[in-house]
Amino acid sequence: MPSHNSDTPISPLESLSLDLGDDQCSNPSANGSQSSLTELVAKRFSRRNFVKAAVATGVGSGLSQMSGCAGSASQTNLDTHTALKEGDDRFDFVEIEHGFGYDQLCAPDHSAKVLLKWGDPLFASAPKFDFYNQSAESQKQQFGFNCDYVGYLGLDPKRGESARALLCVNHEYPHPRFMFPNFDTGLEGLTKELVEIEQAAMGNSIVEVFAVDGQWHVDKNSPFNRRITALDTVMRLSGPAAGNPRLKTSKDQSGTQVVGTVNNCAGGMTPWGTYLTCEENFNYHFGGELPKDHPETNNYQRYNVPQNYMAWDKFDKRFDLGSEPNEPNRFGWMVEIDPLDPQSTPVKRTAMGRFKHEGGENIIAEDGRLVVYMGDDQVFEYLYKFVSRDQVDLKKKSNNKDLLDHGTLYVAQFLQDGSLNWLELSTNNPLLANEFGSQGDLLIETRRAAEIVGATPMDRPEDVIPSPITGKVYLMLTNNGERTETNAANPRAENVFGHVIEIIENENNAAATLASWNIVVSCGDPNNAEHNAQWNSYTSENGWFASPDNAAMDPEGRLWIATDQSRKVEMSGTSDGLWSLETQGPRRGTGKMFYRVPRGAELTGPCFSQNGEALFLAVQHPGDYDKTPAERAQGGAIDWPEFELGQPPKPSVVVVTKRTGGRVG
Ligand code: FEO
Ligand code: CA
Repeated sequence: MPSHNSDTPISPLESLSLDLGDDQCSNPSANGSQSSLTELVAKRFSRRNFVKAAVATGVGSGLSQMSGCAGSASQTNLDTHTALKEGDDRFDFVEIEHGFGYDQLCAPDHSAKVLLKWGDPLFASAPKFDFYNQSAESQKQQFGFNCDYVGYLGLDPKRGESARALLCVNHEYPHPRFMFPNFDTGLEGLTKELVEIEQAAMGNSIVEVFAVDGQWHVDKNSPFNRRITALDTVMRLSGPAAGNPRLKTSKDQSGTQVVGTVNNCAGGMTPWGTYLTCEENFNYHFGGELPKDHPETNNYQRYNVPQNYMAWDKFDKRFDLGSEPNEPNRFGWMVEIDPLDPQSTPVKRTAMGRFKHEGGENIIAEDGRLVVYMGDDQVFEYLYKFVSRDQVDLKKKSNNKDLLDHGTLYVAQFLQDGSLNWLELSTNNPLLANEFGSQGDLLIETRRAAEIVGATPMDRPEDVIPSPITGKVYLMLTNNGERTETNAANPRAENVFGHVIEIIENENNAAATLASWNIVVSCGDPNNAEHNAQWNSYTSENGWFASPDNAAMDPEGRLWIATDQSRKVEMSGTSDGLWSLETQGPRRGTGKMFYRVPRGAELTGPCFSQNGEALFLAVQHPGDYDKTPAERAQGGAIDWPEFELGQPPKPSVVVVTKRTGGRVG
């Protein structure tokens, strides 16, 4: 999701439903003003246990994922870096140039084709998209708006096919200026009917796709195709906060049932083939006012609730704090969906904490437990990981159905000496024992708990991805223009370009509570002294990037990074895109530009097929920032990908393949 750059003026129209909050701090302990308690804790940990992990290399932490964007480590056991010689480049694609264009641009030895556009029918019986006669009912049967995370679950190919899979796609946020014809009023132009279309366009799509002769297609007859929406998909709340009185509403006295999911940003696929979808800026969807002196007042302030960019509260009382003061506590969770059971109820897993969830990439630790890495996407927020109590059962997948309800949530504390403590967020932690009435209460206020234990406020932690080959973990820190006080892990004041941190878990055990960390790259232009950027000198003038956001690992464990610069594109001179980033050997810290989005878009959802021969990308909000509806009505090339007069730009999933076949990149 883009974020607001306060030095660029925005019109009232542009301000509609954009995510303006990631750049705004809501953390009272921001800018280095951590409590003295924090420092004490930090010193204690740092004296007691200095991490040996900095020297730990070697292969993998045991079992690997069977599904998901990281591909399958079992397919390839390359520990390529040991064989890397000076100058070897593991990425052999032809690099493209920085710049802007009305169309996408991909490495010339690869081809990029639109596979799924907003509004595409997902069922044989679904109505064709009609921009001028859209309804919630038709949108519920069509691909949703503003695609973000893409997950890949491999299925057995049929005769003549080279691959078949379910794509699991998030739809992050609505944008009425692009979704409705001639919508050039402000939020006051919304109606109940339009809000219901927006709600139907949110949530998730599960879509079966297949490849024949290197060409990918959508299977509209698949029994697995499914739309999950913010409008009417009933979900279950599970884990320690389920049933908590603070989750009860007038419609749900049990505190365990909630309608819909919102602002689904990044995600992950579990080793047992379920889909994790993250509720990020849920606060944007709420309006109204809490009753005076309501007990949730401080809690909501910490999450910027309400930050009403949707005006849903006018037409759907669930989103009005005055009518349903507890409803915001039912969002901001990690949601687990079983794509192989279209009748299944999505589950909000409260054990994984409540914050602006970005990403659920995961790995199985050496003892068989699942470890899920999660960012909280806002400036000065924290990095988390969840370690399951029980081992993953790869033989009988149904045995994992409640695995994410039991485990320990940790938050990261980055120390100046390059070590990292994973601090336990539970009432067993003496620092938290007397602060919360129950573990459920603690999880509802995860951010406050993290603050009390002394977590390190970071420069907008977004995707966090472990390598299935080395077990090292890569954290995208998008930017933080508000930082004034620096620390070793966030070393630049006014960090407008972001950086990438590598975390090495102690003894390469993903479940460890100690780790070491280092910075792989400090983003920005290495040739511009003002940027204070750090890259390997192999990086070309197109190879550097800014504002790393989403990340993917290919089956060889190579890292790929998608950017979200928002309005800062003018500062870098290039649209967002996808870059490879070498993490090992003499080229470590070398970026290389692979793909560029059409104007106004952000790149999300990079995801490789299991064999690495297809790469799925989500082009979100194409045409944003560019033109008014009146200008668009005159025609104009921003209406990607169809470029048809009278048709809007359409967020789309693109599939990239290599022209000569074989693995991408
Ligand atoms: Fe939705 Fe964190 O970007
Ligand atoms: Ca994102």
